[in-house]
Amino acid sequence: MFITLEGMDGSGKTTAIKTLKSFLEKQGYEVLMTREPGGHKISEEIRNLVLSDNAEGIHPWTEALLYIASRKEHIDKVILPALKENKIVICDRYMDSTSAYQGHARGIGIDVVDSVQHSVLDGCVPDLTVYFDISLEESNKRLTSRDDEKNRLDREGSTFKEKVEQGYKILINKYPERFKVVDASQSIKNVQEQTNKIILEAIKNYEKRKSNR
Ligand code: TMP
Repeated sequence: MFITLEGMDGSGKTTAIKTLKSFLEKQGYEVLMTREPGGHKISEEIRNLVLSDNAEGIHPWTEALLYIASRKEHIDKVILPALKENKIVICDRYMDSTSAYQGHARGIGIDVVDSVQHSVLDGCVPDLTVYFDISLEESNKRLTSRDDEKNRLDREGSTFKEKVEQGYKILINKYPERFKVVDASQSIKNVQEQTNKIILEAIKNYEKRKSNR
């Protein structure tokens, strides 16, 4: 089963999933946690380029295509092999990030980016996408209080971030069967519990559907 996690920068999703792997392993599942952009050698090289200041002024399509190229390598070298071994693959950001950030916020258009992705990614669409929902104000507060180095996209202004949020809301409406929303404004412990519960339930339903086929 393929699960992806999405949200604004500062939504706390990376912290929220710290207990997820061990939680699922205790239930007997083999789990691969990975992230985008990155997750494999060539994809990490693309990550370094696309998030660096050297990419300042990049054309929206070049940016989108770099993320998609990085994703293609990640799918081919990491995600598909793990899915073939029946692992639960959990990816921190995936195709919806490109649709929200480049498709909507950069103005290319969600539908056109989605259609490119559907061709290039060869049907490798998540079975479940968990969206970590947080207000723009709270996500900015969390970003400011983080002492790690901010990347090129973290430093974008509030108009861009509002559009990213809008983009995600459009995607949640467009793919209601795939998205589940977690209220990420709660305490870390609550968000972790909510996330673990939603994902475990989804895995069990997925297994049920598979065994009925
Ligand atoms: P992160 O690893 O801190 O989430 O940083 C990745 C940044 O890249 C984040 O700001 C979201 C952005 N991004 C896109 O704009 N498009 C994409 O397709 C992906 C995967 C990430």
